[in-house]
Amino acid sequence: MNIIDLRSDTVTKPTPDMYKAIAEAELGDDVFGDDPVTIRLEELAAEKVGKEAAMLVPSGTMGNLTAVKVHTRAPQEIIVEEKSHVYNYEVGGMSAVAGVLPRPVKSNKGHIASETIQAAIRDAANVHYAPTSLLCVENTHNFHGGVYLTPTQMSEMYATAKARGLNVHLDGARIFNAAVAQGINVREMTRYCDSVQFCLSKGLASPIGSLVAGPRGFITEARRVRKMLGGGMRQAGIVAACGVVSLTRMVDRLAEDHANCRWMAERLVECSGVTLDMATVQTNLLFFRTAQPAAELITLWRSGGVLATPVGAQEIRFAFHKDVSRANTERVWEVVRSTFE
Ligand SMILES: Cc1ncc(COP(=O)(O)O)c(C=O)c1O
Repeated sequence: MNIIDLRSDTVTKPTPDMYKAIAEAELGDDVFGDDPVTIRLEELAAEKVGKEAAMLVPSGTMGNLTAVKVHTRAPQEIIVEEKSHVYNYEVGGMSAVAGVLPRPVKSNKGHIASETIQAAIRDAANVHYAPTSLLCVENTHNFHGGVYLTPTQMSEMYATAKARGLNVHLDGARIFNAAVAQGINVREMTRYCDSVQFCLSKGLASPIGSLVAGPRGFITEARRVRKMLGGGMRQAGIVAACGVVSLTRMVDRLAEDHANCRWMAERLVECSGVTLDMATVQTNLLFFRTAQPAAELITLWRSGGVLATPVGAQEIRFAFHKDVSRANTERVWEVVRSTFE
């Protein structure tokens, strides 16, 4: 049976172009700084997001952790959104490795109000407090349903943080989804952060890899932290070759994933027992609540060749990506609808 895997947009297999690029990659040693394809990818990435420099890391988690560690000194406090990936799903690395305290705050689907940021900033003059030094934002926001932040929302948060002397790190794991969904250049958002992490291995379909971008001095220091974390890769051109394909050929097609996601949402929302907020259906992630236990449904769907992720006892996520065509989406619907009838 042909399996349709909606568990995550990380499950994609490399494209034929990627395999070809790997085979043709001229390799050096990136820890010595002489791997040509890695250098090209980093320059391309920096240019795409409008930053001075960029650095390849194996994962989004390492990218976020590296950025947090470079921005902060223990025991500072950093403001994070309560449902953010960096706070909930990165094993507390910011505390274990960077020695900082996360201060989780509420938001409106990832947009943290100016007053909320202001209220969360510690009074630096008070000796009881760990001073606040960083604001982390996430765009698109995974656990708010894959919603995007607009340039206006990003600029508001950035202005508030900068006015109080904080830096801003953007977890832009899916920032290209945010750009494509809004029909804008990614820089219209990344200009409102000091550093950004984005993933090659999600919708952009690379097998491995993320980039951290920011000012040149920030990236110089980030290289030291990456080495400490064990993220210095040698013939990294094998990975970077795929990354170049991701950035040059896989961005515009994200619109197909968004269209498939919407197609499915429009049908699911009509099913009895399904609760789905159509306002959150903006990119490639689809979250919905079910009357039946999520685990039961997922087991049933698995026997029909459809894989999905439970994100709560009665909540499920579908992630659309390049290995899920419209025909696959229609097949998913056939499997799924039968369980709601
Ligand atoms: C918003 C967000 N940030 C960061 C990450 C971490 O990426 P990685 O799995 O490459 O460590 C993820 C992974 O799903 C994510 O969704």
